[in-house]
Amino acid sequence: MEIIDEAKNIVLIGLMGSGKSAVGRTIAKKLCRRFIDSDHYIERKAGKPIPEIFSQDGEEKFRALEKEIIKKISQYVGIVIATGGGAIKDPENFKCLNESGWIVALYASPEVLYKRIAGKRARPLLTNHDDPVKALEEISNERKGMYAQAHFQVDTENKEINEIADEVISLLNVNKEIHFKMS
Ligand code: S3P
Repeated sequence: MEIIDEAKNIVLIGLMGSGKSAVGRTIAKKLCRRFIDSDHYIERKAGKPIPEIFSQDGEEKFRALEKEIIKKISQYVGIVIATGGGAIKDPENFKCLNESGWIVALYASPEVLYKRIAGKRARPLLTNHDDPVKALEEISNERKGMYAQAHFQVDTENKEINEIADEVISLLNVNKEIHFKMS
């Protein structure tokens, strides 16, 4: 049974490799909710994969598309959203997502993040770096202030996707119970 506020979206934020898409899909399945991955939406709208958007149109164009998509999907009700790692850099994006539901930040160390994404789909922000772990560390330092504003923080290291999904669901349920008892 789901006791999490049904109208509120569950929004996952965090760096590349933190597990937003896999965890989001699992949470959606467990709660019988719709799942939306903002990067997939952007690719569909642009008609090409993200690395091509970056290389052909530039990061600015990607961020503009991302902003349009975040605004749109924040209007949905009761869904699970996985965002691209940089989506919350824009305060307006953060505000839209924040108003749409609970924001959950997923974390892991740069070393673990890199192990998870190495050899998988290309991440344009890391492709021209000799030391991608260092690049992830720098990106993490730039964004940690935004990630810290999430309602919940979840460490994903040494945990299976299913375990992380359960942890997020129980955090949201406990929070709902507290609200319920206080009102
Ligand atoms: C980005 C993360 C990527 C994708 C794009 C930019 C970022 O998504 O949106 O390459 O700025 O951190 P994932 O977090 O799903 O890898």
